[in-house]
Amino acid sequence: MRGFFGISADRPAAKAAACRSTPCFPASHAAVLLRIFRRVSPALETLLLPFSRGEIEIPQRALFLGAEPHPDLREWPAVTGWQPFFPLAEAWRKAGFPLTDEPAGSWPLVLLLPGKSKEEVLASFARAYDSLEEGGMLVVGMANTAGAARFEKEFAAASGGVASLQKNKCRAFHAAKSAAWNQALLAEWRELGKPRTLESTGFIVEAGIFSADHVDPGSALLAEHLPKNLKGAAADLGAGWGFLSRELLGKSPNLKSLDLFEADARALACAKKNLSGIATPLEFHWHDVAAGLPGKYEVIVMNPPFHTGQNTDISLGRAFLRSAADAMRTGGRLFMVANRQLPYEAELDALGLVWRKPVEDSTYKLLFAEKRLGPSKPVTFR
Ligand SMILES: C[S@@+](CC[C@H](N)C(=O)[O-])C[C@H]1O[C@@H](n2cnc3c(N)ncnc32)[C@H](O)[C@@H]1O
Repeated sequence: MRGFFGISADRPAAKAAACRSTPCFPASHAAVLLRIFRRVSPALETLLLPFSRGEIEIPQRALFLGAEPHPDLREWPAVTGWQPFFPLAEAWRKAGFPLTDEPAGSWPLVLLLPGKSKEEVLASFARAYDSLEEGGMLVVGMANTAGAARFEKEFAAASGGVASLQKNKCRAFHAAKSAAWNQALLAEWRELGKPRTLESTGFIVEAGIFSADHVDPGSALLAEHLPKNLKGAAADLGAGWGFLSRELLGKSPNLKSLDLFEADARALACAKKNLSGIATPLEFHWHDVAAGLPGKYEVIVMNPPFHTGQNTDISLGRAFLRSAADAMRTGGRLFMVANRQLPYEAELDALGLVWRKPVEDSTYKLLFAEKRLGPSKPVTFR
């Protein structure tokens, strides 16, 4: 089986099956597992409580939508995960669990850690329901700050009844598939998960991906100020559904190639559609930019993420900058946009890039940087 964009799901499946019967992880892998399991989220802890308390029986096989690894799951007979966000998919795979890019068939149990936006959460309820066999159990885990109470009500409206527990500032709620489910509501929610065209732009987007209902104003500002006729190999880091890539190619149609790097497989699938028919050679990478880049480039564009889950995380943007600086050829140029309060300038200095700030407004700033020849003593011009 092939995973999202060529990630193989076979190897971890086989490894997980073997490791269930024997404790087969070498010491180095044990360290990896320790790091992975240390990051278990409160929503996941809560999701698994009905099982550790014996309220729901662990079945022979289960599907986990929005899969994240937990040590308890290693005791389960078989759990297949679906996870569109690359770093989490990697953690799941490295923990030895099988990963699928397109869940199929029907399951006696579906675990669900839904996303953030309302449309995405409701669509994931419908998707999870559709993955259940008759009588199968759907169990959802959500943080209170993500709207657990509100979404539990929506869930109950569809299922006709729900059992719920609260712990760790999260909720876990569940219901079995039965004739009582409201089919009209499920049909509405199914529609919310389908790819759709962003009005007035023609771009294809999908619920749950970044900026799914409008062009991001920061990216629009960068697109407006991108120079024309750039040359060489280009990359778009955190390419989303492809807005910046398409704008870049519109202004610089003679670029040699463009690589799009994006962690959200759903966004990348939209980007593929949004850039179809373009003559420039394109490559789409389901990839964690923070882990570095496989190529070298003359041009890099980016609007780096600055959230991990619901928290502001400047370290992610800094890691994007480091990856960009490493991947720039001498003479290579970086064009980025950021919220104006995010302190990326010091990182550009530390990386030895020459930079300037051509535009700054009340919300955003553009930072344009260059990798010059010679010792990397920072020279800043504004
Ligand atoms: C601020 S958005 C910009 C999206 C797009 N370039 C645009 O202008 O509309 C940042 C993007 O980075 C992606 N992202 C987040 N973490 C990532 C990571 N570790 N590696 C690659 N992409 C990541 C997000 O999914 C999101 O699509």
